[in-house]
Amino acid sequence: MKKVTVSAPGKLVLFGEHAVVYGRPCLVTAVGQRIKTTVELIDEPIFQLNAPDVSISDYKKPMSELGKGEAPKGAKFVEIAVANFLSKYPFQAGIKVTTKSQFSSQFGFGSSSASTVCVIKALSELFSKKLSNKQIFDLSYKTVLDIQRKGSGFDVAAAIYGGTLYYVTGGKVIQSLNIENLPLIVGYTGVKADTVTIVNQVAALAKKYPKQIENIYTSIQSIVELAKISLLKSDWQSSGELMNFNEGLLTTLGVEGKKLADMIYAAREAGAYGAKLSGAGMGDCMIALASPSKVRSVKNAITQAEGQIINVKTNVEGVRIEP
Ligand code: MEV
Repeated sequence: MKKVTVSAPGKLVLFGEHAVVYGRPCLVTAVGQRIKTTVELIDEPIFQLNAPDVSISDYKKPMSELGKGEAPKGAKFVEIAVANFLSKYPFQAGIKVTTKSQFSSQFGFGSSSASTVCVIKALSELFSKKLSNKQIFDLSYKTVLDIQRKGSGFDVAAAIYGGTLYYVTGGKVIQSLNIENLPLIVGYTGVKADTVTIVNQVAALAKKYPKQIENIYTSIQSIVELAKISLLKSDWQSSGELMNFNEGLLTTLGVEGKKLADMIYAAREAGAYGAKLSGAGMGDCMIALASPSKVRSVKNAITQAEGQIINVKTNVEGVRIEP
């Protein structure tokens, strides 16, 4: 085999962001919008990338230079993923990668992690390595940490395993939850959040108020544990209430921001069971849970608060080989 196409889903964190960076659990669901990556072995010893969704066209580098020098932002994850695979499983060939996304890299759906996962899975197929999901996770998570230094890795896990996961930092626990028909409403702020910057802001706050911030993480953890039970029971009322609790704590961490707050309050006032931000905060997306009779009014309220509704399927399949 010389060429393979692989796809992986984006993700939305349901509960537990930020605290999950510090050893706590979170709940995450894989969304229907996917990234497709084609990886081809070529004779010339060069790495070549086309990723039009992140403005990368015909980026080239000798294989021997992988991971060295500067790389454009949109190329980094794919390049370092190839470099990490190569150093663990040496091979002689050039690599041509093309990625195509069904969602904007601005949404915070985890496009970098999903494309990293696609590349590792594709190389595992092309070189018949038969890597397990955990081995794909370890190499992909290493890639994310090599680039970002920080990050819990739940987006990597969602891209690999799919479904809805109970996840603990660094993949210490990755548990699939049997949750069906999550009635999730998603609103996009139109603002791109820079996760690393926001995680660093929270870290600075924790340096000044270590005990207080630790207590917040512990409270978030207890909400995640309750939310896991309420989601498994399809108890959307309690799950919504827990979203509101979780949001209050995220506000205390200083990551809510006015635009998200407007959309979240609009959703609640229109009758949602609850609403919160999803991801790093200060931008990206918010999520809400609502009964079928309220879905329309909640979506309208989010739109009136200048959010953009994104229709998502949740709980979808993880990384897979495409025909
Ligand atoms: C960002 O989507 C979620 C954070 O918890 C960071 C992470 O888990 O890596 C803020």
